[in-house]
Amino acid sequence: MKIRSPRTPAEWAAYYRLRYEVLRQPWQQPAGSERVPEDEDPATVHALRLTPDGTAVGVAMLQSAEQARGQVRFMAVAPAWQGHGIGRELLEYLEEAGRRLGYTEIRLHAREAAVPFYARLGYVLEAPSHTLFGSIPHFLMTKELAE
Ligand SMILES: CC(C)(COP(=O)(O)OP(=O)(O)OC[C@H]1O[C@@H](n2cnc3c(N)ncnc32)[C@H](O)[C@@H]1OP(=O)(O)O)[C@@H](O)C(=O)NCCC(=O)NCCS
Repeated sequence: MKIRSPRTPAEWAAYYRLRYEVLRQPWQQPAGSERVPEDEDPATVHALRLTPDGTAVGVAMLQSAEQARGQVRFMAVAPAWQGHGIGRELLEYLEEAGRRLGYTEIRLHAREAAVPFYARLGYVLEAPSHTLFGSIPHFLMTKELAE
C-alpha cells in the first residue's frame, strides 16, 4: 500500500505508537518521549506505511531545517517488517516531498546500526554527532537532492 500522512485519529495513534515501540520503549523511555514540537509544524511531512488491513508497519518524518534543508527523524519499521524495502520506500517518499518543498539537501542523525542503510540510499557520513540515552552513538549524514 502507498505511503501517506496519517489521516484519522486512529492512524495518528498508530503512527506515534510504532515510533514509540521501535525507538523509545526498548530503552525504557516514558510515554510521550516519542513526540517533538516539530511534529506540529505545518511544514513537517509525516510518512506512514500501512498494510492492506490497516496495520502501521513503517513511519518517518521530515522537518524543515535551516537554509532550505530538510531533516529526517523518527524513521522506524516494525521489527517483523524490516529488510523488506519499507525503509527505502519511506525515505524515497520523504526525499520526493523535500524536492517539492524546494529543499536542496536532507540531513539526519543516524543511529550507528542504521548507518549502512542510509549509506545504501546515497547518504554521506559527515561526522559523529550525539549519543542518545547514553548508549546509542549517532552520525550526521547528508544527501543532496537532485532536481
Ligand atoms: C533502519 C531501518 C529504518 C531500515 O528499514 P528497512 O525497511 O529494514 O530497510 P530496507 O529493507 O528498506 O533496506 C533498504 C536497503 O538498505 C539495506 N540495509 C538495510 N539495513 C541495512 C543494514 N543494517 N546494513 C546494511 N544494509 C542495510 C538493505 O539491504 C536494502 O538494500 P537493497 O535495496 O540493495 O536490498 C529499519 O531497519 C529500522 O526501523 N530499524 C530500527 C530503528 C532504527 O534504527 N531507525 C533508524 C534510526 S536513525
